[in-house]
Amino acid sequence: MTRRAGIIGHPVEHSLSPVFQAAAFAHCGLDVVYERWDTPLADLPARVEFLRDPAVLGANVTVPHKEHVLSLLDEVGGLAARAGAVNTIVNRGGRLFGFNTDGPGFVAALRQEAVFEPAGRTFLLLGAGGAARGIALALAEVRASAIHIWNRTPDRAALLAADLGPPASPLAEPPSLQGYDCLVNCTTIGMQGGPNPSASPISLETAPPGLLVVDIVYAPLETPLLRAAASLGLPTLGGLPMLIYQGALAFEHWTGLPAPVDVMFAAARSELARRHGGPP
Ligand SMILES: NC(=O)c1ccc[n+]([C@@H]2O[C@H](COP(=O)([O-])OP(=O)(O)OC[C@H]3O[C@@H](n4cnc5c(N)ncnc54)[C@H](OP(=O)(O)O)[C@@H]3O)[C@@H](O)[C@H]2O)c1
Repeated sequence: MTRRAGIIGHPVEHSLSPVFQAAAFAHCGLDVVYERWDTPLADLPARVEFLRDPAVLGANVTVPHKEHVLSLLDEVGGLAARAGAVNTIVNRGGRLFGFNTDGPGFVAALRQEAVFEPAGRTFLLLGAGGAARGIALALAEVRASAIHIWNRTPDRAALLAADLGPPASPLAEPPSLQGYDCLVNCTTIGMQGGPNPSASPISLETAPPGLLVVDIVYAPLETPLLRAAASLGLPTLGGLPMLIYQGALAFEHWTGLPAPVDVMFAAARSELARRHGGPP
């Protein structure tokens, strides 16, 4: 029997997940089709019910449904419950389990691609939206020593830090970068099609030597922030690794198999090159 998986969101036509998940299933010889399940909010309950079908492995969930799906599931894992957001649903015998692999995907990307161990390190997060929340929770779980959050709307940074408790704290002013081990852009600044595609979310003037600069924006692959960091000789990590590792963790939840991460990277890079030009 051909089994099914897919991504639930609205819209989903530009999602990269179908490209790299299909490559992973094919590489592992699994008869699974991964589909785009565009779902307006009114259709979400019916879409989630459909996931109980024995032919369905599960789904990814993206904007704007990560929060809305929680109440439609049978069980929600610890991190997803704390984040108040689910990005992966697994169908086990008709019961639906919700997970959040965004934050763990970020941590895996740090460890695997930047060779950077977050335990005991100091982080400055820019932004306090859904992505920042998942990342901050995962960093707290792996025992980062400080997670400072600065956001355009200070109340949201304060709320996120209060939800997390120590080691998170909000910053009222745009901070100096001295004393940080890692800077993470979790805003939409620098994102193609976003509010400010050619801007950088912060000046790197005060960056200490060796500061790891991470931008979770993955379109374009090289954002203005990453370009500025590279020109100063700072180590950088783009957003594609987080995207791939959150997908790899979802793949492992659905199949119980190790995800073919290299195959997923190659498929995503060649699709991005096809869409935006440049080398795969
Ligand atoms: N690599 C990955 O796997 C991955 C995963 C998830 C998300 N992302 C990327 O991460 C980014 C954020 O996603 P999200 O889901 O967290 O979005 P979100 O919940 O809408 O949050 C957006 C954040 O950006 C800030 N922001 C927006 N416009 C701004 C501006 N002009 N100046 C300063 N700050 C601004 C917002 O600040 P306010 O609170 O002041 O509005 C908020 O903190 C997106 O670019 C998304 O593509 C990447």
